[in-house]
Amino acid sequence: MENVYEKLRRHVLSAGKTKKAYTKAYGCAQNEADMETLRGMIEIMGYEFTDDQSEADLITINTCAVREGAEDRIYGNVGAFKKLKEKNPDLIIVVSGCMTQQEKTVEKLKNSYPYVDIVFGTHGIEKFPERLLRRLETGKRILEIEEKSEIVEGLPMKRKEGASANVSIIYGCNNFCSYCIVPYARGRERSRSWESIVSEIEQLAKKGVTEITLLGQNVNSYGKDLEGGINFAQLLRKINEIEGIKRIRFMTSHPKDLSDELILAMAECDKVCKQLHLPVQAGSNRVLRDMNRKYTREDYLALVDRIRKAIPDITLTTDIIVGFPNETKEEFEDTLDIVKKVRYDGIFSFIYSKRSGTPAAKMPDVTPEKEKSENLTRLLEVQKEIQLEINKTYLGKTLEVLVDGTSKTDEQLLSGRTEGGKIVHFAGEKDLVGKYVNVKITSVKSFYLTGEIV
Ligand code: SAH
Ligand code: SF4
Ligand code: F3S
Repeated sequence: MENVYEKLRRHVLSAGKTKKAYTKAYGCAQNEADMETLRGMIEIMGYEFTDDQSEADLITINTCAVREGAEDRIYGNVGAFKKLKEKNPDLIIVVSGCMTQQEKTVEKLKNSYPYVDIVFGTHGIEKFPERLLRRLETGKRILEIEEKSEIVEGLPMKRKEGASANVSIIYGCNNFCSYCIVPYARGRERSRSWESIVSEIEQLAKKGVTEITLLGQNVNSYGKDLEGGINFAQLLRKINEIEGIKRIRFMTSHPKDLSDELILAMAECDKVCKQLHLPVQAGSNRVLRDMNRKYTREDYLALVDRIRKAIPDITLTTDIIVGFPNETKEEFEDTLDIVKKVRYDGIFSFIYSKRSGTPAAKMPDVTPEKEKSENLTRLLEVQKEIQLEINKTYLGKTLEVLVDGTSKTDEQLLSGRTEGGKIVHFAGEKDLVGKYVNVKITSVKSFYLTGEIV
């Protein structure tokens, strides 16, 4: 029997011209990784990729539901597909990901966006080729959301070219922070076997990848759901042995699960970067409790102390939510205070966004929006100062930088990252992209360093 891909290839290559696909992922690295899987499938189907929606025969977007702003933007973009479909009635539009894992989104797409052809959520993405074929053969819309899924290994992936690659190690989240939609959108924690992870990274190393970022909503839970599996610290030690890999990073670590065993593994594994993203979310114990974060500010500060003792020059970054329900002025001051105490190398901060279906959505909230945005501005100002002070300590130092590409602000300059994740701009030939160079830092700003190759 002719398989699904063969049938799809015949469709894609029909009428004497190759059909084109436009793809986009919103949200976090995990969504991007799922998109890389979908892109791998689309490549096998024979599509060419395009960055221009207006010439696409297939549009597939992977959506994010983490904040209302993200959802609004996506609805706006999906709305704009209507015109494209009018121009090209054969255009196939696919919407998947965290937004469509929610019933209310599916209802809305079903009723108000009739030109969307295929809708699925975060589960069962391996069924995408079969669904696309069914849509093409029957002409019927397909809206199929699954409740849960097992890990499917061996799916194709089309990654971005370059020396860096992301590798998912655990899917889903069991933490249910009270504000967060992710556990509902991505289901319970499911770890990949360490054998599959190691063999994937070995393959990547053979293709020239030297920097790996391990992905999970909470990588510290890795292995807990596997019988006879290994834990995250042990996994790091195994990956540290892989020939060709130079840098290992991971995202994200929940503070409550960051063990001393992991700190030791980080300190002892030479390839594990001295860098950690450790979301604190808030500095007040009342807020942390109501967020269901399961640590206090004292626990968090003690953890940071332990980490810095073991790995003195580690760079730390964090996520912060401003304006959690009923956050008072004093409670926000506690967040500022923890930011000043820890002195992060970078923060990602967001104004709280109510997500229906989460426990926090039912909490009363009388804090005015204006106060929340003023607090966010203050937080960003305080952090900018701290970052500048920290970055000044790099002046005159020589750092190893992995060259990512050209600088976003100045095409003439190259841009790369240090082991600690600092962005560095410097002059150099484009053929250095993907290579490691030593750069002496000559000037600094809050958000990047500038230097020259030595
Ligand atoms: N699993 C990761 C990342 C989750 S989403 C973690 O635990 O850190 C990334 C960030 O988005 C979170 O760290 C949090 O700061 C923010 N976030 C999540 N839900 C939010 C909401 N409802 N409103 C505002 N920010 C939110
Ligand atoms: Fe959301 Fe908390 Fe899970 Fe992170 S750990 S994904 S913030 S529920
Ligand atoms: Fe968004 Fe889903 Fe990631 S909600 S942040 S894309 S897990």
